[in-house]
Amino acid sequence: MTVSQLRRTIATPGLLAYTLIDSDAGDEPLGHVELVTVPTTGTEPRLARVLLAPAVRGRGWAARLVALALEEARAQGLRSLALTVIATNEAAIRTYTKLGFVIVDHPRPDALAMRLDL
Ligand SMILES: CC(C)(COP(=O)(O)OP(=O)(O)OC[C@H]1O[C@@H](n2cnc3c(N)ncnc32)[C@H](O)[C@@H]1OP(=O)(O)O)[C@@H](O)C(=O)NCCC(=O)NCCS
Repeated sequence: MTVSQLRRTIATPGLLAYTLIDSDAGDEPLGHVELVTVPTTGTEPRLARVLLAPAVRGRGWAARLVALALEEARAQGLRSLALTVIATNEAAIRTYTKLGFVIVDHPRPDALAMRLDL
């Protein structure tokens, strides 16, 4: 994700973005998580675009970023969060499971729906 894409994302109503930046290494985003509090489709608030730059993977940064989004969701009084993940994405599924998400559906052969009661 580029800085200009990030700026557009941040300007979207009902969407909060958490971005990981190494302040010693410039302003290039290294990680990103979106909390969609006012979904335009579907029925539940959700997490979206959870991603880390390859250079910073394997150190648990995704869980830390997602935890910030969960804190905000709770502070806003949201009751649950949904997300969709590719069924073979072990690192992502483990990240979400550790934070309390459970698999609730298998909407496509290659995808899992997960949900967290906040
Ligand atoms: C998914 C992603 C955000 C996870 O980032 P991360 O914080 O670096 O995750 P980690 O590599 O620390 O792994 C998280 C957990 O999964 C475990 N894990 C990683 N790969 C695994 C595998 N192949 N099988 C089983 N467990 C695995 C890790 O051991 C770790 O568990 P632990 O915390 O109990 O030690 C990152 O890999 C990424 O950006 N991937 C590309 C984008 C993407 O797929 N986003 C998810 C969209 S839903």
